[in-house]
Amino acid sequence: MFDTMTLTKATGAVCGSLLVYLLISWAGQGLYGMGPAEGHGGEEVAQAYTIDTGAATDAAATTADAGPSFDVVLASADAAAGEKVFAKCKACHKIDGTNGTGPHLNDVVGRARGSVADFAYSDGMKSVSDPWTPEHLQEFLTNPKGYVPGTKMGFAGLPKIEDRANVIAYLTSLEK
Ligand code: HEC
Repeated sequence: MFDTMTLTKATGAVCGSLLVYLLISWAGQGLYGMGPAEGHGGEEVAQAYTIDTGAATDAAATTADAGPSFDVVLASADAAAGEKVFAKCKACHKIDGTNGTGPHLNDVVGRARGSVADFAYSDGMKSVSDPWTPEHLQEFLTNPKGYVPGTKMGFAGLPKIEDRANVIAYLTSLEK
């Protein structure tokens, strides 16, 4: 009799805990699912951000052809703000002419893609040797692995168009 009660209580406690655990993990998945971590999620974040600035048409342009609307953002880009964004790149990229995990970037704007002589690029990066224009850079930085398939740059990308424009303005300011 006592044993049955104890067993019933214990079973109830276990079931209750499992239910709470399920609810917590369900809620947790919901929260994580909203993060920008997934590959194509970045575009959605960029879109939401762009709508905030009132330039709704920029969002579509960043994913398709990023011509004029990126130019508009770049025209008012802030190199000092870009220097802060560059903190995300510093772990791999130096700007003193020496290579780290990634090639040095001090003259990258206008430099032919994959052209630092003593850096071992991926085949994907070497497959094209067009110069890095601000437009090419911003497409690459939106989604590195999408723009250069097989790239070994282990970086998810900069979802915000302003971050891309600012960091490119900063890199441009480093030229020479
Ligand atoms: C985890 C390390 C890492 C981070 C962080 C990183 N990169 Fe890279 N980057 C690389 C590597 C490695 C390559 C070479 C890729 C290849 O060969 O496919 C590269 C290549 C590049 C290139 C092409 C250079 C060339 O010579 O053609 C550019 C431009 C670039 N990165 C910009 C950036 C910017 C801007 C950031 C920050 C927003 C950044 N990267 C963050 C590792 C990184």
